[in-house]
Amino acid sequence: MSTAVAHPNIALIKYWGKRDEDLILPCTGSLSLTLDVFPTTTTLTADADAAADAITFDGAVATGSAARRITAFLDLVRAQAGITARARVDTRNSVPTGAGLASSASGFAALAVAAADAYGLALDERDLSRLARRGSGSACRSVISGTAVWYAGTDDATSFAEPVAGPALGMVIAVVDAGTKAVSSREAMRRTRDTSPYADAWATATAADLDEMLAAFGRADVTAIGELTESNALRMHAAIMASRPPIRYLTPQSIALFDAAAALRADGLDAWATADAGPNVVLLCRDGDVAAVRDALRERTGLPADRLIAAHAGPGARLVPASD
Ligand code: PMV
Repeated sequence: MSTAVAHPNIALIKYWGKRDEDLILPCTGSLSLTLDVFPTTTTLTADADAAADAITFDGAVATGSAARRITAFLDLVRAQAGITARARVDTRNSVPTGAGLASSASGFAALAVAAADAYGLALDERDLSRLARRGSGSACRSVISGTAVWYAGTDDATSFAEPVAGPALGMVIAVVDAGTKAVSSREAMRRTRDTSPYADAWATATAADLDEMLAAFGRADVTAIGELTESNALRMHAAIMASRPPIRYLTPQSIALFDAAAALRADGLDAWATADAGPNVVLLCRDGDVAAVRDALRERTGLPADRLIAAHAGPGARLVPASD
């Protein structure tokens, strides 16, 4: 029996678009901050007598596509390990699933670490990152502590995440809507690629944004990091919105939060907004400013305290004692 914990990550330079859907190779590299909130804890037990994988999410039996995705992922691990035994998988999520708060990232990072251990694979951080990528692209970054860069790579061996040094950053998550999003990121990425006239421009611009972002990290230039973060997120949403039929994740409340970030900056408090494939908005700031940004946001937006979550850099996916 192996238990692993992983945390979600929020991208400063977004991953949006696959070059290879089977291997989950992205069109471009990306860069993110792994957080210290909303952990996923997954326990996996190999069971030679079981006829099928038995998967539960927060105690409820998983069925349909969610269960198939996990079994397909475990098949990869079993093939690598040369073991056929099915597994019992128990996953506990403290992040609202499917709300654009990166539950798939923490989920597959925890599953990769637990499954590798339970099936006896001795993988280093890079190989665990590559493995997690096969479950959900962004999961490869949740294997890494703090800020991580995911290299697009050219094949399975070269597409992985690793730590990137930089200034201490924090985030405030503004939960606009904790419900499940209308269009999954998988489907929306496909539709953007197939129908958005801005898909190619997005990929070209993001490759350049990542180079600039890595340079800004090297200089510990928080202003440049923040400006690139906000701009890259809006570019992603512009490309998504131009799909047909259109997909629009940002709601009026989300847009108001981008305006709130600008207002905080005008008041002298540095914070920049980003948003994943959902309506929730995340403000990026210096680590020491997290409490001030949360307070200012609360005052400005009237959002209740439980919808403004303070987050700092968190640990990469790791094994824990079963009782943890
Ligand atoms: O890993 P996926 O398939 O959940 O895609 C994640 C996509 C975004 O969260 C919108 C961007 C990112 O880089 O995390």
